[in-house]
Amino acid sequence: MNASVSDAVQRVFNFSAGPAVLPLPVLEQIQRDMLALPGVGSSILEISHRSPQFIDIANEAKARITSLLNVPETHDILFLQGGSRLQFSMIPMNLLLEGQPADYVLTGSWGKNAEKEAVKEGKVQVAWDGADCSYNRLPKQSELKLDPNASFVHLTSNETIEGVQFLHEIEAGDVPVVVDCSSDIFCRPLPVERYGLIYACAQKNAGPAGVTMVIIRKDLLQRGDAELPGYLLYRNHAEADSMWNTPPTFAIYVMGLVAKWLQEEIGGLTKMESLNREKSSLLYDVVDNNSDFYVGHAEADSRSLMNVTFRLPNADIEKKFFAAAAELNLTNLKGHRSVGGVRASIYNAMPMAGVRALADFMQQFADDNK
Ligand SMILES: Cc1ncc(COP(=O)(O)O)c(C=O)c1O
Repeated sequence: MNASVSDAVQRVFNFSAGPAVLPLPVLEQIQRDMLALPGVGSSILEISHRSPQFIDIANEAKARITSLLNVPETHDILFLQGGSRLQFSMIPMNLLLEGQPADYVLTGSWGKNAEKEAVKEGKVQVAWDGADCSYNRLPKQSELKLDPNASFVHLTSNETIEGVQFLHEIEAGDVPVVVDCSSDIFCRPLPVERYGLIYACAQKNAGPAGVTMVIIRKDLLQRGDAELPGYLLYRNHAEADSMWNTPPTFAIYVMGLVAKWLQEEIGGLTKMESLNREKSSLLYDVVDNNSDFYVGHAEADSRSLMNVTFRLPNADIEKKFFAAAAELNLTNLKGHRSVGGVRASIYNAMPMAGVRALADFMQQFADDNK
């Protein structure tokens, strides 16, 4: 830890599901730039979104994301607001075609939330629903009931609450695949060219709350009806280079810094993925080696690299687990209120040392409480 930061404040290992931990070098850069951006004389919070200085910052963020994810010329990157929840509505509003329903793959709470909003906009079909297995696994390709005539197929790459994650692509023929990557964008290289639309709110793996990134195939921009309210039409944002209205300038600036950190300090997304695999294995190994004490939620081949979910023998022991963890500065480990249990969110910015500390604690706690 940087001496200036450790002297001033005690940072905990924060396993929050979002808003979540940010890379320390990014926080330090924000701190340095907060009174005045170098050469600008004002902070990022005080300059116009139309100033050449901010346009440079936004362009750099876009350029870094383009090279990190290898975004092809066929796709546009938009910086929007309203969180991923607004995308649950904007996607069907813009992409549903007359007489062609959308297919939704329900792998957990967020997929269900997305579908709940989509049905308000038009005809939706459920291509697979993991309710029967409590959303503890992903579907096999052969289980998906995909309609070759669908307007699009929607899936959630990482279910933040249940802790199941697609680490492979699905096959949907010519139907555009739309994917909610809110809690795993930048966790691995993504073949962007295979997707019609990728969206991610920033506050888990890419920056602070306030900006939602949408990467959309350019031909799909033509689908939206011009009569839609202006903000809700992707085309308006694409034509105005995400300046149709005042964009979330601070959040875009931080997202750019996170992308820079991934490129320059981590060494890109292939490296990030191998670190994420190493980090998540540390925790899953403790769960597997103590299966008489910890019960993992997700089946082994569906496990998330980002959100590790498991239960202890009963609620009292879980309470004791959270209290003992907090004493060691391991915080925000409670599972989502809808499912309970433990959830350790180990996004890109969670250092290996934090995961090691949690794995050691889990082993010790199991030894002491079995
Ligand atoms: C996978 C996923 N999708 C969507 C959302 C909703 O994002 P927002 O709160 O930015 O609307 C979340 C937030 O937790 C999420 O984890």
